[in-house]
Amino acid sequence: MSWEKCWPSRNLSGNLSAMKSTPFDSFLRSLNPIWLSTFIGCAVISTCFGQATATAGKDAFARNQSLGRGVNVLGYDPIWDAFAQGRFKQRYFKMIHDGGFDTLRVNLYPFRHMGAGPDFALSNSWWQTTDWIVTNALAAKLNVILDFHEYEITGKDAASNKAKFLAFWRQVAPHFKNAPDQVLFEILNEPNGQMTPELWNQCLAEALGIIRESNPTRTVIIGPAFWNSIDHLAELKLPEQDRNLIVTVHYYKPMEFTHQGASWAHPVPKLGAVWLGTPAEQAAIAADFNKARDWAKQHDRPIFLGEFGAYDKGEMPSRVRWTEAVARAAEKDGWSWAYWQFDSDFIVYDIAKEQWVEPIHHALIPPGGAKTP
Ligand code: BGC
Repeated sequence: MSWEKCWPSRNLSGNLSAMKSTPFDSFLRSLNPIWLSTFIGCAVISTCFGQATATAGKDAFARNQSLGRGVNVLGYDPIWDAFAQGRFKQRYFKMIHDGGFDTLRVNLYPFRHMGAGPDFALSNSWWQTTDWIVTNALAAKLNVILDFHEYEITGKDAASNKAKFLAFWRQVAPHFKNAPDQVLFEILNEPNGQMTPELWNQCLAEALGIIRESNPTRTVIIGPAFWNSIDHLAELKLPEQDRNLIVTVHYYKPMEFTHQGASWAHPVPKLGAVWLGTPAEQAAIAADFNKARDWAKQHDRPIFLGEFGAYDKGEMPSRVRWTEAVARAAEKDGWSWAYWQFDSDFIVYDIAKEQWVEPIHHALIPPGGAKTP
């Protein structure tokens, strides 16, 4: 059976108080003392910025290694509507780092915060929130991936959203041109539907061209069409001469288990599926990952498993087994990864209880694997 994800649109619109949009380094200088106090030291960050162009991402493999273990954050947080109502609190940056993670993959839904064409200017409030996230992530020694997550709308109507999609990178890339190498761009999450492999290959080349005008040495993340599926890596055409790319794939197989009860999957998988970690189940993961490993070897590209997770409606012991198996399989192949996700659903952190969901956290970061602060 082939499962298709079909996504409800989630209302993320809204405006924050105005703050002038500035390039990221000017933004740092304009921070108020409260935010400033969150930094380990502005001098450290400024020094990093000064070195950015000299040392930026020469080796995508080394950069990928440094991404290590990550987590998806903030995609569905009300912070984008009203900063003060954010569920994600400032102290979580350090907490996530101390919990053993190296990277935040920030799921961005910017379209609702963009003005009319042809400029499609991002709102001041959007810049404010995004800069706050990037600044705090870096201060907490986390890499930060800016993941353009408007995959539903670009999948439904690729042609009429292309200008807006490119306008996003035309604004975001120059804004972060002096940011440290630890800031990475991911061009588009899960291209699907009308964003066919052929169209995606054209769009990614155009977006990468825009990014390279201002960020010649920044590492950029790109995945295959069909929801970043390993099975569609073969159709992905990357600009051959650009070696500073990391290729991303997502993994949710078997969908009958990971998406049981998920209203956005079609058809909705029945509840009650388990994953026991039998040799056959383990072998299925290995077979899928081998396909990606072979492709990566042939094309000499590093792999980032940008999403994987099992929905909260499944039973916990099975979720733990599956999550651990997938994370360890990725690490065995030298991939970096980011768990789906911190908050909202598939959660690894319970904001209501202000505590890690320990079984999932431990499955991801084996005890002893957490960093010392
Ligand atoms: C989507 C989420 C979804 C998850 C798992 C992500 O790419 O953005 O909305 O919950 O995949 O299906």
